[in-house]
Amino acid sequence: MSEAVRTMLQANAEAAREAAPEADAGFLWDFWYPAVRSAEIRRQKPVTAMLLEVPLVLGQTSDGKAFAMRDSCPHRGIPLSYGRLDGEVVECCYHGWRFEACSGRCVEIPSLTSQDKLKVERIFAGHYPCEERDGYVWVYMSSAGRIAADNGPGFRPPETVPEAPTLAVFSDKYKITHLSCELPSHVDQGIIGLMDPAHGPFVHQSWFWRKRASIHEKAKQFEPIPNGFRMSPHQPSANSAPYRLLAKLTGESVTTTIDFVLPNVRTEIDRSGKLWFSSRATVTPVRRDLCRIDFAAAWNLPLPVAIFRPFAKKFLRQDQLTMIQQAEGLKYNPHLMLIDDADRQAKWYFALKANLLESRRTGAPLVHPMNGPVTLRWRS
Ligand code: FES
Ligand SMILES: [Fe+2]
Repeated sequence: MSEAVRTMLQANAEAAREAAPEADAGFLWDFWYPAVRSAEIRRQKPVTAMLLEVPLVLGQTSDGKAFAMRDSCPHRGIPLSYGRLDGEVVECCYHGWRFEACSGRCVEIPSLTSQDKLKVERIFAGHYPCEERDGYVWVYMSSAGRIAADNGPGFRPPETVPEAPTLAVFSDKYKITHLSCELPSHVDQGIIGLMDPAHGPFVHQSWFWRKRASIHEKAKQFEPIPNGFRMSPHQPSANSAPYRLLAKLTGESVTTTIDFVLPNVRTEIDRSGKLWFSSRATVTPVRRDLCRIDFAAAWNLPLPVAIFRPFAKKFLRQDQLTMIQQAEGLKYNPHLMLIDDADRQAKWYFALKANLLESRRTGAPLVHPMNGPVTLRWRS
């Protein structure tokens, strides 16, 4: 196929699905995903969320540890979120079985008599590793947890859980803010929308960012990184007002580094002298027809949160509206295209995803779709 060949999105998604049966909804298991904001679990009352079509109940034990359980009692399946949190234990509302919130282990079945031989401690409610970071409750969606939930209550925790993601910061004092918005789309559409360089002048037209007329040719260098790719450190687009401001404040040039890594993380770090701005956007699959962008940004610029937020909100809202409109069209399963070079990052994403599933299936190392640094050109 030629370089400029057009690829159908569905074909890629299909390939990713076939590569491993676990990906039937096109989700990537065995990764951390943000479930809810930390503030939501502070009130001694469990909250519910859904990740990768798994219903979860999340909360915080009396000693301050976050937990994430499958929101389903292993006895009769009633959501545990209807029960109550009692210190370190969640009690089901139906027959009062009690489970350690952090391990899922059953500690009491009130109906048992002294004659009963049932080993209570061998019963587990589904649960997932859980960590609080950067104002989010992150849940490690382990395939072991899912398999246990599908096969019965004998849950065994996964052997190795990697570190939860952390937003990069470069000084002790900084401001931080969080925004989120839901997209009525499959996570793949959300992710390729996030990394799409060509929609900016059309979707994000505004006086403070840029105008459609400012469209011009760009060449950006990319390099492979583990599980992802990096837009190599560069001087950002001169037509973007915030970057001009940053350069003005420090009198030094601004360097921007943008990374994408599986399953869903885009980070951007802008630095100029002592000043820095760091952001992370994740697109998290809720259901196969719903995903959510969680955006966290931290900076030490003299930029009040109250000024930054409305702009960032407007930006996200523009993306959200576009995705809502796109979902209208996607209902009828149209054939889609990915073109070079503007959609090359989307191609890398689909290839990385398919190759990751293949490497998990075979045990062989992941084959990276990039051989080395490459320059992409597009107009935006
Ligand atoms: S359904 Fe939960 S204790 Fe029976
Ligand atoms: Fe956008």
